[in-house]
Amino acid sequence: MTAPVRTRGSEELIRAEEPVLAHNYHPLPVVVARAEGTWVEDVEGRRYLDMLAGYSALNFGHRHPALIEAAHRQLDRLTLTSRAFHNDRLAEFAERLAALTGMDMVLPMNTGAEAVESGVKVARKWAYDVKGVPADRATIVVAADNFHGRTTTIVSFSTDETARAGFGPFTPGFRIVPYNDLAALEAAVDETTAAVLIEPIQGEAGVIIPDDGYLAGVRELTRRKGCLFVADEIQSGLGRTGSTLAVEHESVVPDVLLLGKALGGGIVPVSAVVGRREVLGVLHPGEHGSTFGGNPLAAAVGTAVVELLETGEFQRRAVELGVVLRDGLAGLVGKGVVGFRSRGLWAGVDVDPALGTGREISERLMREGVLAKDTHGSTIRLAPPLTITAEELEGALGVLEKVLR
Ligand SMILES: Cc1ncc(COP(=O)(O)O)c(C=O)c1O
Repeated sequence: MTAPVRTRGSEELIRAEEPVLAHNYHPLPVVVARAEGTWVEDVEGRRYLDMLAGYSALNFGHRHPALIEAAHRQLDRLTLTSRAFHNDRLAEFAERLAALTGMDMVLPMNTGAEAVESGVKVARKWAYDVKGVPADRATIVVAADNFHGRTTTIVSFSTDETARAGFGPFTPGFRIVPYNDLAALEAAVDETTAAVLIEPIQGEAGVIIPDDGYLAGVRELTRRKGCLFVADEIQSGLGRTGSTLAVEHESVVPDVLLLGKALGGGIVPVSAVVGRREVLGVLHPGEHGSTFGGNPLAAAVGTAVVELLETGEFQRRAVELGVVLRDGLAGLVGKGVVGFRSRGLWAGVDVDPALGTGREISERLMREGVLAKDTHGSTIRLAPPLTITAEELEGALGVLEKVLR
């Protein structure tokens, strides 16, 4: 088969999307056609350093050879069975993911939002079956400025009005408290509380890192009050912060972990709820499921991802290069950067609003060959593939310095 003749350039492709594609995103005006490692190339052959990595879905870079090989091998053998039957890849995926995270059981799903929805259902079921909360009274306590996805239930407990307006009526049963505030959490948790659901680091909010002791405090409080600690590690997990999980920075073990993004190796959507047997054991046949969750292709890629993480190499890189990122950003404070937060290879950079919005800065970075994305206002999120080299990272920081000058 011959390759299709390319007849349309970037500008024409962007224009072509306008009438036929729902306008639920506002992408940077770059049309990516191929990618390898930390680099992407647009339709015209211009190269860009990827400093976003698919919001951490590409922790191992684009087309990591071990992941591509695992996918190819599986494509040639078996891709989908549904869970009506067993498939020969799922047991190993679940065993190794449970071992990697120190948990007992795995509920495989596809997208991050599905993992969150599934976590909410599991927590409620646990509250009724194990804790003894009266029917339909369970509550889940979440943090303000959270981002857990886009379904109707998830936006029900968002505090982002853009994400909510026009999508009610909302799902009841959630209490919202300020992030990083143990006293507020203490006041909100009562005998109806099934779980506290938080991001160990709030990604969308601008890489907000809680005070030392907060995660350990959440662990102590949830244990003392008899409810679950559910950690959404969909963006923070799988190597990004320098450890397999962000909760490890405080040596905390939650009851339930929500994983996604990088679990699919940037190839297929793979997510999972991972937890203790007493919690995930509440599900019985017919109570929850997904046609695609745990499919053999996803399980093969997910297993290869776990195998990469088992080496510890990517976590180490995130620690070592995280120092380069932090030092580089520290050097830009006062030179267009008003503040930043970073852990491992993940940073939220607050740019002086006088120099432009986050969007404008991202467009300037793009024109200089670096892809990054704003979060809110004048905050830029940096989350390069964990395969990035020190030279590439320093190059990206140099470009940031240049566009802020
Ligand atoms: C912490 C967190 N949870 C959940 C999600 C939702 O994941 P998905 O977009 O795959 O549904 C995201 C996505 O950005 C996230 O950052």
